[in-house]
Formats: sequence, C-alpha cells, structure tokens
Amino acid sequence: MLKLNNLSVSVGKKQILSNIDFQFEPDKVYAVMGPNGSGKSTLGYSIAGHPAYEVTSGQIVFNNEDITEEEPEKRAEKGIFLSFQSPLQIAGVTVFQLLRLALEGKVDPLELRNKINRIAKELKIRDELLNRSLNEGASGGERKKLELLQAVVLDPKFLILDEIDTGVDVDALKIIGSYIDKIKKGRTIVLITHYNRILKYIKPDYVLVLVNGRLVKVGKKDLAHQIEEQGYESLNSNL
Ligand SMILES: Nc1ncnc2c1ncn2[C@@H]1O[C@H](COP(=O)(O)OP(=O)(O)OP(=O)(O)O)[C@@H](O)[C@H]1O
Ligand SMILES: [Mg+2]
Repeated sequence: MLKLNNLSVSVGKKQILSNIDFQFEPDKVYAVMGPNGSGKSTLGYSIAGHPAYEVTSGQIVFNNEDITEEEPEKRAEKGIFLSFQSPLQIAGVTVFQLLRLALEGKVDPLELRNKINRIAKELKIRDELLNRSLNEGASGGERKKLELLQAVVLDPKFLILDEIDTGVDVDALKIIGSYIDKIKKGRTIVLITHYNRILKYIKPDYVLVLVNGRLVKVGKKDLAHQIEEQGYESLNSNL
C-alpha cells in the first residue's frame, strides 16, 4: 500500500533518515518506536510531504504511484493524514471551519457539524472547546483529542499519529486508544510512540524501531515490551 524504497531524507544539509526500506500494508497497525531524535517525526513529515524535509534518495510509493515529489495537499486528498506531535494553534479558526475548508464543500455543512459533534461526544471533547479557535488555550491532552477528531472526519486511508498518547491522562488514553482501535478497519495506522501503554488498547501488528535515522529492527508486539523493559541498548546486537 505505502512503500518506502531506500528512502533517505535531509533537513537543510543534515541527513536524518538513511536508506529506509519498508512496505506498509492495509488493515494493519504499526508502532514506530525509537530514542528521541531518531527520526520518527521526520518519517511522518516525509510521508505527509512537509516541504522542509527533502528526499535525497529513494521513493515513497502510495498505491503503486510515486508520490515522492507530490504536494502535501495532494497526498492528503489521496488519503494520507499526519497528526502532529505538537498540534498548532490557529487563531480565529474553529475546528469546524478548518474541516469545512479541508473538505472543500464536499460535505453538507450541517452533516459535517453533526459528524463533528458525534465524534466529539465519543472522544469526550467538550462543546466549548469545539467553538473556540483551534487549540487556543487547549491543554496538551485536549489537543491530542482534537487531532484525532480531525483525522477521523477526514477519513484517511493512511493515518500517522505522532505521539497521540503523550501527555494524556489514563482516562483520555483509554478513550483515544479504544477509539483508534474502533476505526482501524480499512486503514493503515502508524502509531509513533514511546510507550506500551497505548498498545494495551490498540494492538500493533508490527513494531518498527528507528535509531539514528535507520530502521534497525522490525518485530511483533513483544518487541515493544522488550524495549520498555530493557531499553534500546538491548537491541545493540542489531544496531
Ligand atoms: N526542521 C528541522 N530542522 C533541523 N533539524 C531537524 C528538523 N526536523 C528534525 N530535525 C532533527 O532531526 C533529528 C530527528 O528529529 P525527529 O523530530 O524526527 O526525532 P523523533 O524521533 O521524532 O524524536 P522525539 O522522540 O523526541 O519526538 C533530530 O536531531 C532533530 O533535531
Ligand atoms: Mg517526534
């Protein structure tokens, strides 16, 4: 479905990702783990097409189409969505207005409003938060829920969630994790995470480990437990 062919990525002159070869399949959940600064968010940005991240070699192929040079908007239209590790504030724009813009009149505004309200209820997002400018004064956990809400409304085929579990309390984690599990059918889900705790609610089919911009290990969910208990050093023999 989405294939990384020997992908290397730089920011400015600094090479961050090196020769990543991997194929993501539909209907699968992937956890991407790795130490701070290992390139996990960079991988998300590169797949989503952030202009600061330059592909210096290799390709990104989505449904047999080379999208390496494609604009982020085009990738989004094809069904790729990245939720940010640090969601931005957008002054003067509510989540409804933003989604209405993103969907370019493809949905009836009333239908969109109802959909947003329904998902907000399931994610236990307060109405008042929906009516504020996006993320303005929102807490860390509230922002993560708003990111997930946007992702769900846009109905992506390839969903990258960058640390959706960071900074959220135990109840919010359960709501977020269970909700992702509920919507996983028919999509590829990439969970960038440092912790096992979200993996209790949504089980990964595969765990990928990035170290120093390289994909050093791919395993099943026990690999996430091994990392939590023994740290990345325990993978040393493979690095
Ligand atoms: N826009 C940028 N400009 C300069 N350096 C960058 C930029 N984006 C990423 N980097 C560098 O690339 C490396 C990888 O960063 P990245 O954010 O991908 O790591 P990460 O694995 O997501 O880390 P964390 O677990 O802390 O979120 C870091 O050394 C970071 O400083
Ligand atoms: Mg990151």
